[in-house]
Amino acid sequence: MRALVGLVGTALRASPWVVAGFVVFQLASVFTSLAQPALNAAIIDDGILRGDVGTIKVVGLLMVAVAVVNLAVSLGATYLASHLSASSARDLRGRVNSRIGMFTDQQVARLGLSSLLTRSTGDVGQIQGFLFIFLTVVVTAPLMLFGALVLSLSQAWQMAPVIFVAGLVLVALVGVLVRRIVPWAARLQRRLDTINRVLREQLRGIPVIRTFRQEARERARFAVENDELTDVALRLGRTQVLLLPTVTVVSNLAGVAVAALGAIFVDRGQMQIGQIAAAVGYLGQILLAVSLLTVIAGVIPRAVTSADRIAEVLVTEVLDSGDAEAGVTSSAPAVVFDAVSVGFPGADAPAVDAISLTCAAGTVTGLLGGTGSGKSTLLSLPLRFADPDSGVVRWDGTDVTGLAPAWVRARTAFVGQGATLVTGTIADNLRIGRPDATDEQLWKALEVAAARDFVEARPEGLDARVAQEGRNFSGGQRQRLALARAVLRRPALYVLDDPFSALDVDTEREVIANLRRAHPEATVLIAAQRVSSVRHADAIGVLEDGRLVAVGTDETLRTDSEIYREIAYAQAVTDA
Ligand SMILES: Nc1ncnc2c1ncn2[C@@H]1O[C@H](COP(=O)(O)OP(=O)(O)OP(=O)(O)O)[C@@H](O)[C@H]1O
Ligand SMILES: [Mg+2]
Repeated sequence: MRALVGLVGTALRASPWVVAGFVVFQLASVFTSLAQPALNAAIIDDGILRGDVGTIKVVGLLMVAVAVVNLAVSLGATYLASHLSASSARDLRGRVNSRIGMFTDQQVARLGLSSLLTRSTGDVGQIQGFLFIFLTVVVTAPLMLFGALVLSLSQAWQMAPVIFVAGLVLVALVGVLVRRIVPWAARLQRRLDTINRVLREQLRGIPVIRTFRQEARERARFAVENDELTDVALRLGRTQVLLLPTVTVVSNLAGVAVAALGAIFVDRGQMQIGQIAAAVGYLGQILLAVSLLTVIAGVIPRAVTSADRIAEVLVTEVLDSGDAEAGVTSSAPAVVFDAVSVGFPGADAPAVDAISLTCAAGTVTGLLGGTGSGKSTLLSLPLRFADPDSGVVRWDGTDVTGLAPAWVRARTAFVGQGATLVTGTIADNLRIGRPDATDEQLWKALEVAAARDFVEARPEGLDARVAQEGRNFSGGQRQRLALARAVLRRPALYVLDDPFSALDVDTEREVIANLRRAHPEATVLIAAQRVSSVRHADAIGVLEDGRLVAVGTDETLRTDSEIYREIAYAQAVTDA
């Protein structure tokens, strides 16, 4: 509840003028609505019953004018409420999104990727919807309830018992319905989460599903989730549709009671016909206000759930900006891992287990290890994509957790395992590394990455289009473009996570030699599964199950490390 109040408060504070305008419109709307039944009573009692055409005309015109004003201010209020809720949803999405962007890998793993996706879209949508309902109901309903009660009693106090009983009955009935709706609404949200996850997995895994002939199984899995979702939605819908008829039936029955009771009073000469009409009108408004208030009580739980889920993202502590530059001077840093361990939530063993390794300034350090041995996790530390659970990573002797992530990253070029490319042109992709680079610099970087040939082969050259995720390039071409982007940056530190896995050994050798020649002063960390990628490194660390099992050069490891020999032998590069 605190989270929801906080989000609503932030939304209201963000645009005080819109809120003020909204309140003015909303007040005008309530007052004009309240005026109608009184005018109606006047036109009947003073005009129609007395046959006074003049009064009928005047009051009638007044009623038309009030109705027109009511329409205009109601439209204005709805417009401002939509505007306010949509723009605060935009701000909230922005906040959630930028916060997620600062998460470490462990934080993403803890909250779950799919869930983060739903939180920044679906849950924000819930808050947007709630804000709109809250705005339109919370000002209007209590005012209308109070005003209509006062006016109906002043017009026809004899009707008080009917109003009271009808109000109680309505609260009871709508309350029962809302109580049934709330748990199903929460269940619906969870079902949406699940079906999103299944759908995501299936869309991402289409090739795998097809090669392993899992279509039928996946179809069945989706059908189950789909049926469950439908079932929950139907149950929810069946209860929800009862709300409006309940309000209508109670209002109409109460209207009948007022008319019947009124007839008796009119017969006795204690009331006028117009007063009955006014009482019926106010009764409708009272019951409408009551049911709106009950309904908002029903949407609160769902909004609270969403607000809590959003707040969980917003309060997650992200890397503080640290003490930029403190103590760091040299251009190419020495990177030291000092007994670092990293675990992921839900895993039994740490992904990186007490690793100590020194990567001297201006040297190439290779990390060799099979899949899952912890290479990527270790490489995520100097860039602060993750912080170690224990141990320290030093950048030229300074603990990186004391350095601003932005400062560290600005001096580093990272090439990830996925060789991420974005939609746009080749030049767009390369200039991510250095926005002001000239075409000549781009070509040079491509040359270092042995990518010049295939870019030249495209008629548009640097302006060749890159499709989503770079799918119109081969895996090896993507890797070379990603490397060229890194080269363009002229970083002090290269962090290369298996960057050559899709290259043949000859191209790989060429690229490594080019890179060294182009930036002899840079410090390079390179992880790989293949011996050929690291054998020319100044130092090689061999990883197994998150532990560092051997350190040396290609030469020393071949004599000292059985594991290294085994890997090298298996990859048949012993005499290459
Ligand atoms: N985001 C994550 N959430 C949960 N566990 C993770 C995550 N990232 C890595 N791990 C776990 O950490 C261990 C080491 O993974 P890591 O990606 O560092 O291995 P790797 O050596 O890079 O493997 P590969 O050569 O396949 O890329 C694995 O057991 C993996 O399951
Ligand atoms: Mg990896």
